[in-house]
Amino acid sequence: MIMQLILKPQQGLHGTIQVPGDKSISHRALIIGAMGLGTTTIHNFLFSQDCLTTLQALKNFGVDISQNNETVIIHGQGLQSWHAPAHALDMGNSGTTTRLLAGLLAGRPFTTTLIGDQSLSQRPMQRIQQPLQQMGAVIHLTHGHLPMTISGQPLHSLCYQMPLASAQVKSALILAALQASDTSTIMEKLPTRDHTERLLRQFGAHLTTSDDHYKINIQPAHQLQGQTIQIPADLSSAAFFLTAASIITHSQLQLTNVGLNPTRTGFLKVLQRMGGQIKITAQSQENGEPRGNLEISAAKLHPITITATEIPNIIDEIPLIALLAATADGRSKITGAGELRVKETDRIHTTVEELSKLGIAITELADGFIIDGRQPWSVINPHLDSHGDHRIGMMLAIAALKCSAPLHLKNAAVVNISYPNFFQDLNNLLSQEEISS
Ligand code: S3P
Repeated sequence: MIMQLILKPQQGLHGTIQVPGDKSISHRALIIGAMGLGTTTIHNFLFSQDCLTTLQALKNFGVDISQNNETVIIHGQGLQSWHAPAHALDMGNSGTTTRLLAGLLAGRPFTTTLIGDQSLSQRPMQRIQQPLQQMGAVIHLTHGHLPMTISGQPLHSLCYQMPLASAQVKSALILAALQASDTSTIMEKLPTRDHTERLLRQFGAHLTTSDDHYKINIQPAHQLQGQTIQIPADLSSAAFFLTAASIITHSQLQLTNVGLNPTRTGFLKVLQRMGGQIKITAQSQENGEPRGNLEISAAKLHPITITATEIPNIIDEIPLIALLAATADGRSKITGAGELRVKETDRIHTTVEELSKLGIAITELADGFIIDGRQPWSVINPHLDSHGDHRIGMMLAIAALKCSAPLHLKNAAVVNISYPNFFQDLNNLLSQEEISS
């Protein structure tokens, strides 16, 4: 699908919007609910392609799941009731589904094969295989990638220092550790998103985190109990509109019920440091997850320097930070972000390749970029490409709002991975004359 993008809205973006439910929490609520006993009701579940991949996979293990509108209901019968799937399971594009399920399946008494699309089949899986093997798991990869075959085993406990910052790896190990013979310890060099830990506590697991958030102890779980979960709106999806409102003059937006877990709010801090006009109101907490409303208006932005320690907290928003930097009054530098090279695409390369088409002064580094926002934009190539990466596609649709020449986006439908109504929601925030012009 090639889409014509909207250019230069004169009046900016206006209105109030609640973006869809958090992707990371939706995956985890499904998986943990499916491990539990009794009913788990998930409100504001994200019905996107990635989360539906998790839902479908769980049904293949015999988990009874029903849905109505934005609610998913799991009739949990406990992990013991899971059975071997009848065929290899297709993980589609979803790294979160693959890695979290691999951790869980490492301790189940049956064999499962996981396959994925072209992008997922190139993403590294040794990062979970290696520590899971230390627990006694038997996992076969294909040259370090999918297809992956997991033959579940009785697991022993783990004491593991994470060599890289990854919430997916950490969560896989936690889900395995719940099935281990004794208490496990996982240590992180930099804290990553902790939705798994927060949700598991609500379901009754015994899991403690040190005060500095670097060390997690996980006791083998007695039976987890079904819960009711209210998923907040996804800050990573809200970030597209926060960026748009910041860089398009006259914009003023309110985003409601946005997840504000401190392991995810790095983007708000970066935007504030750049001079972004953002206000947080109506803060509350539910299911151990903070949330609130965000008010944002257009701002004059300044350059920024970002280094490794900040990266895990902004990992999915870095292409948007590159775009913000491309409108700032100076030179920005982002380093320590090598993990971007193993996302749905090599996001350092795709961000540089696509933003360069708009005449933006962006230079690729091994682990980041340098962006000079002082260089005026001028469209060099109007044929933009999402490269099959949802976050790159949506970032480019926001970048187009700053351009005057007609632009096209190849493979725009990939937004379905995390935000199926992205283009409708963007249109609703623009005035009607601007959409039809
Ligand atoms: C996610 C963790 C991050 C993030 C991804 C979702 C999660 O990946 O980039 O979009 O839900 O755990 P890594 O943990 O591999 O950094």
